[in-house]
Amino acid sequence: MQIFETIRPAQQQISEYRKTGKTIGFVPTMGALHEGHLELMRRAKAENDILVVSIFVNPIQFNNPADLEKYPRTPEKDNAMLRQVKCDMLFAPDVEEMYPEPDNTIYQFGKLASVMEGAFRPGHFNGVAVVVRKLFDILTPDKAYFGEKDYQQLAIIQSLVKQFSIPVEIIPCSIVREKDGLAMSSRNIRLSDNERAIAPKIYEILKKAVSLRKVLSPFEMEQYASKELQKIELFDLEYVSIADDTGLQAFTHWNDVNGARIFVALQLGKVRLIDNVRIF
Ligand code: PAF
Repeated sequence: MQIFETIRPAQQQISEYRKTGKTIGFVPTMGALHEGHLELMRRAKAENDILVVSIFVNPIQFNNPADLEKYPRTPEKDNAMLRQVKCDMLFAPDVEEMYPEPDNTIYQFGKLASVMEGAFRPGHFNGVAVVVRKLFDILTPDKAYFGEKDYQQLAIIQSLVKQFSIPVEIIPCSIVREKDGLAMSSRNIRLSDNERAIAPKIYEILKKAVSLRKVLSPFEMEQYASKELQKIELFDLEYVSIADDTGLQAFTHWNDVNGARIFVALQLGKVRLIDNVRIF
């Protein structure tokens, strides 16, 4: 695995790959890798000649400075995992390298960015769009792989690619869960034993809510899941939202939309967790 911490040599390596007609599959990450990331990487490796991974904890997508400061960093473990999936190239710049000057671009994602994470984390998606566009510019991947746990992020990136005609195919990948149902996340390692034991209740409650689709309206399902989640003392619920699976907007009747998901964000101790489940 070749490791690049600066942009120019990384670009040179990419053009070497291009000269020999190699296709590039890209998995952007913020490190603290887990099995969910490895799934994206295995798929990218299988579907392309070259697997490129980036590790960059992007400060401008954190609306909460404490969250940025406590974001887990596990560089040695990450390197071992990257070698395990035979990553060809790691791009791991520092903040100076990525932002020698502040990037003040303001993106417009309309209603897509005004709900759920967009409403609770002001500026978050703009920061994601800035860094992802920059990474796409530098690494020019053919395909880029994103997990559906961050479903709204995936929708934002699909919109970014369309708006700016970026020549990359975005590949959505299913959520990878622990055996007990907890969605894999870099943040999970910050949960205490007690919190970790209770965390699978999120998926359990979402699944139960979804199973009641025949008897509950979208509004009632949302209410049901909210009530059940609020019964768990350690959960500090931010939102439960049922939305169509493309525009991510609320709707009244199941037959108003072609597909829907239930989304949740909550605070468990000092850790913020999100999850979502497909309804149909
Ligand atoms: O999902 C993440 O890990 C980050 O938001 C991403 C896409 C790497 C951008 O910093």
